[in-house]
Amino acid sequence: MKQGLDPIEPQSRPESIEALNLRLAELMHRHNELFDRLRADQQHFARLARSVWRVQEDERRRLARELHDGIGQNLAALIHQIRAAVRAVPAQAETALTALSALNQAQELAQATLEDTRALSRLLRPQILDDLGLEPALRWLVRTLSAAPGLHIRIDVDPLPLDLNADVATLIFRIAQESLGNVVKHAQATLATLALHCDGERLILSISDDGRGCDPAAAFAVSARSESTGLGGMRDRARLFGGEFVLKSGPGAGCTITLRLPLIPT
Ligand SMILES: Nc1ncnc2c1ncn2[C@@H]1O[C@H](COP(=O)(O)OP(=O)(O)OP(=O)(O)O)[C@@H](O)[C@H]1O
Ligand SMILES: [Mg+2]
Repeated sequence: MKQGLDPIEPQSRPESIEALNLRLAELMHRHNELFDRLRADQQHFARLARSVWRVQEDERRRLARELHDGIGQNLAALIHQIRAAVRAVPAQAETALTALSALNQAQELAQATLEDTRALSRLLRPQILDDLGLEPALRWLVRTLSAAPGLHIRIDVDPLPLDLNADVATLIFRIAQESLGNVVKHAQATLATLALHCDGERLILSISDDGRGCDPAAAFAVSARSESTGLGGMRDRARLFGGEFVLKSGPGAGCTITLRLPLIPT
């Protein structure tokens, strides 16, 4: 009933609304402050995580060079010396046969170790990525993995910007390496395709296969349980660079991963 209303209400209402507005404005201000601080912290952690990742890649590059140029060169020199020793042993001498056989075995062992060392060096960080750039590195990766029996890999790469950010190039290469590794390891596919397109602002990498497929939620759950670093690691790294990583698949329907990445990390 109107007559029953508190007579002071009409006077107090403008005051309390004003107070509420002030309180609301203050809350909004604090909310915005907290939001800005949160965003700044997030950007700070993303920058920090990107530099940790960059340090890791630098270390891999250093180790790869050390393996290739240091241990690799020494092994090549050792093989050369063993060959010289083999030639120096008089082939007719009866007693030399044992020495020759031992030297040949040593040469084979040194050769196999040299090949393993070079393969490990390329796995750590292929020199082609630093020397010739992303596209030749992806073509090399596809050539190497196409050697797996029964698997054909197609590649389709758009012309890439000449000043492509080095971290972005490394990230694309690592995700292609990890995803094609998954195809070889898990898919039982006969055909896979790597496509890299550039729309002027973003790079879009997609890798698809016609293999046995998987349940994406279960596959990411494997990653989350730390049983693997693959899919979860790729998604986290994509986010660090302002990109997104999506896996589409279903049992028997093959797998497609798509990475959308800004040309300039955000
Ligand atoms: N192309 C694919 N075809 C079929 N299954 C796949 C494919 N890619 C991933 N998976 C499934 O997703 C799971 C998780 O993949 P992820 O790369 O995270 O781990 P992993 O390859 O098992 O281990 P890691 O990458 O650490 O060596 C795999 O175990 C596999 O079951
Ligand atoms: Mg994997």
